[in-house]
Order: sequence, then structure tokens, then C-alpha cells
Amino acid sequence: MKSRWWRSYAKQYWDLAGGVSVRTKIFGIVLGSTILLSLGFTIQVQNTQRNLLEQKSQEQGQSIARDVAARATDLILVHDFYSLHQLLAETQNNYQDVRYVFITSPEGEVLAHTFGSGFPFDLASVNNVLPDNFHRTVKLSTDEGAVWDVAVPIFEGKAGIVRVGISDQSVQATMARLTSQLLLTMLGVLALSLIAASFLTWILTRPILDLVGATRSVARGDFSLRVRRWANDEIGDLAAAFNQMTIELGKTDLIRNEREQLRRKLLEGIIDAQEEERKRIARELHDSTSQSLTSLMVSLRNAEIICDEPDLQVQVADMRSVVRNTLNEVHNIAINLRPEALDDLGLEAALTRFVKDWQRSNQIPTDLMIHLGEERLPESVEITLYRIVQESLTNVSRHARASNVSVVIEKRAGDIIAVIEDDGVGISGKHYQNNGHLGLIGIEERAQLLGGQLTIETDLNKGTSVFVSIPLKIRETIT
Ligand SMILES: Nc1ncnc2c1ncn2[C@@H]1O[C@H](COP(=O)(O)OP(=O)(O)OP(=O)(O)O)[C@@H](O)[C@H]1O
Ligand SMILES: [Mg+2]
Repeated sequence: MKSRWWRSYAKQYWDLAGGVSVRTKIFGIVLGSTILLSLGFTIQVQNTQRNLLEQKSQEQGQSIARDVAARATDLILVHDFYSLHQLLAETQNNYQDVRYVFITSPEGEVLAHTFGSGFPFDLASVNNVLPDNFHRTVKLSTDEGAVWDVAVPIFEGKAGIVRVGISDQSVQATMARLTSQLLLTMLGVLALSLIAASFLTWILTRPILDLVGATRSVARGDFSLRVRRWANDEIGDLAAAFNQMTIELGKTDLIRNEREQLRRKLLEGIIDAQEEERKRIARELHDSTSQSLTSLMVSLRNAEIICDEPDLQVQVADMRSVVRNTLNEVHNIAINLRPEALDDLGLEAALTRFVKDWQRSNQIPTDLMIHLGEERLPESVEITLYRIVQESLTNVSRHARASNVSVVIEKRAGDIIAVIEDDGVGISGKHYQNNGHLGLIGIEERAQLLGGQLTIETDLNKGTSVFVSIPLKIRETIT
């Protein structure tokens, strides 16, 4: 229980100390230790000085009392009380710190005093010195401060006792002067240590702040910044190590960038080659295979006309129908490979046709909105957008189980935006992260090659939005 209480206090202190900046910590340590040191020193000096001064004033009181005792002996013996009074008055006048002087007879009767009209009789009994003692000193506290009451026996006590009261006011005044001097010195030391602390903080925090700034730019991907090695200490070593690290990171980043560029070039080459190949096969299918099938159909039609055999006629008609179907299939394959409309009439026409065909074969109502203006987009952008819509709609038909689909392609604030939205089952995280699938990755790669990006928003059982944006400016520089 006790240790928990202690720990909670330690934690609070740690939170407080850890929460402030290094600058504040250094200031706190320097100021705290300077104040503690100065206070300790002041108290120590004050005590020593006070003891010395008090001892000195007691000794002064004793020597005054002894002097009065020596001089008063004869006067007492001859009962010259007038001169006795004179002696006491003179003594009080000569010494600033003497508050009172009085002499009592061995029986305790006051023979002379410096109190004027009223002698405080209770004073007589507060300090009883024995005849064989040299002196006895008692500290009295009065309304006007402390008084050292010194009693000295006269003629070994046979003639009486001298009592001298020494005020400690001059001790107090000296102490006050000393204290104010010490405090002034303390302020001076404090000011000097503040200057030293600021210098120290500056020396310590400057390289740290440099390092923080440089670390932030590394986090932003800028590896060019180097921090200065301010001194050959541990922080200097840290700066050197940091610079070495950023140099290595910069090299690695350069290699990574070069590899990325190479990968992109390769990918671009593969996609271009694939498109060219598709175009070639589509043209081949159209120009050669379709033409041959068409001539075969014409020949079969002629054969059907000139043939007299009804059985043979039926067979030829069947063959013609097979050839027609094959022709349609070849036509569809050619369109899927590379729609002629895309090259000849542009993206809008090609997509309108593709979406219409897709809607018919999938029986899913599909909205298509294309706002691209009159000007045709570069070929690379047109084919990219066409393939993105093609892959997205293929995904909808294969995976989404959607009731409605919408496809929007438009220019928006310097970008070309393509949004393919369905209200199907959505993509579950498991499928989304599956590396075996290439469709969505392909969309992303194609978009990135043109400086664009792909965003997919999906909600389970609510649908999926494939959002692609391609910046026009970058596209212009690429093409
Ligand atoms: N519109 C969609 N609705 C629901 N699920 C989808 C949709 N689009 C993609 N998915 C899910 O995301 C996965 C990845 O899609 P992706 O197109 O990358 O691969 P694929 O269609 O499975 O295969 P392919 O590589 O032939 O395209 C799919 O397997 C499917 O589970
Ligand atoms: Mg797919």
C-alpha cells in the first residue's frame, strides 16, 4: 500500500518532469541547484557570523563589567555613591551597546544604577554570580530585543556585584547588513547561472532541434538534408551517425526509384505489347477469319440454292447456321480483344457499345454517363479507361450479384474520373487482400502508369465503388 502511494507520487513527478522541454529541465536544474547552494551558504555564513558577533559582544560586556568592578571597589569602600553614579553614567555613555549598568551590595541592595527614576527590581535576581566566579552571562529578552546580562563580583564579591546589560542591536544591524549583502551576491550568482544555463541550453538543444528538423524531412521522404556537427561530443557523434544514415537511405531510395521506374517501363512495355497483340489478333480475326467465314457463308448459300436434294439442302442450311454462329463468336472475340470502335470512333462510342452489350448479356440495368467533351483523349488514356470499365464490369458480373450498376466518366478539376458503382455484395477484406487476383491490381497499375490512382470503397451487402482518377497534366507530359 505504502509502495503504491510512493510509486504514484514518483509517477506524477516523472510525468511532470518528462512533460517539459529539455530547455525547461536544464533551467530548472541550474536554477534549483543555484538557489539551494546559495541559501545553504547564506544560512551557514549567517550562523557562523552571528555566533562570532554574539561571542564578541559578551566578551565586550565582560571586559566592561570587569573594568567597572575594578574602578568601583574604592568608591564603594569609601561610600562615594555620587562618584559611583558618575562612573556608571560615564560607562554607559562611552559604550553604545551598553543598555544599563548597576551595582548591588553583597546583600543585594542596589547601590547605583543607570535607570534614572525607576529601577526594575526583578532584574536584580535574574543573574546570580557566585563570588568565586569571574563572571556569569545570561541572555535576557526584552521589548527592545535581546540583552546580554553580565555579572562580575567586585572584590571577590565582598564589595558587591556589577551588572552590565549589553544590547544585541548592533549584532542585529551587522547581521541585517550581512544578510542583504549575501542576498545581493546570491542574486548576482543567480543571474550568472541563468546566463550560463541559457548558453548551456542553447549548446545542447541547437543540435537536437537540427536533428528533429532533419528527421521530419526524412519522414517526408527528403534524404538530402544533413545536420551540422556542432561539437565533438556524443551529440556530435549522433549527428554524424544520422548523416551517415540519411546518406544510406538516400542511396537506397535512389535504387528503389530506379527499380520502380524500370518496373513501370517494363509494365508499360508489356501492356503496350499486349494491346498491340490484341489489336493485331482482332484485326486478323476481322480481316481474315471473318472474311473467310463470310465467303464460306456465301458459298453455302449458293450451294443451298443450286442443290436439288432437299436433305442436302437442310444439311447445308444447318452448316450455314453453324458458320453464322461462329462468325458472331469470332466477332465478339474480336470486339473483346480490341473494339474497332475505340480506335475509329473514340472512347465514348466504344464504351457505349460495350456497356450495351454487357447489359444485354447480364440483364443488369446499367447507367452510363460520359462527359469528356469534343476533344479526344490520348490513345493510352482511352485504352486505360476502356480496360478499367471492362474489368470492373466483368467483376460485377462475376462477383457482385448486383441489381444496378452505374458507370460515370468525366473531366473534373483537371482530372479524368471514372467511377464504376454497383449495389452488390461488396468485397470482403479476405478477398480484397488475396494476392492471387490480378484484375483490381491491373486497374491500379494501369492508372498509376498515367500518374493516377485507384480508390475502392466497399460495404458488405451494400455495394462497391471503383474510383479511378487520372490527372490531365501528368498525362499530357507522359503522352
Ligand atoms: N464489384 C465487386 N463486387 C464484389 N466483389 C468483388 C467486386 N470486384 C472484385 N471483387 C472481389 O475482389 C476479388 C479481386 O478481384 P480481381 O478483379 O482482382 O480478381 P478476380 O476477378 O477474382 O480475378 P481476375 O484476376 O480474373 O480479375 C474478387 O475475387 C472478388 O471476390
Ligand atoms: Mg476480376
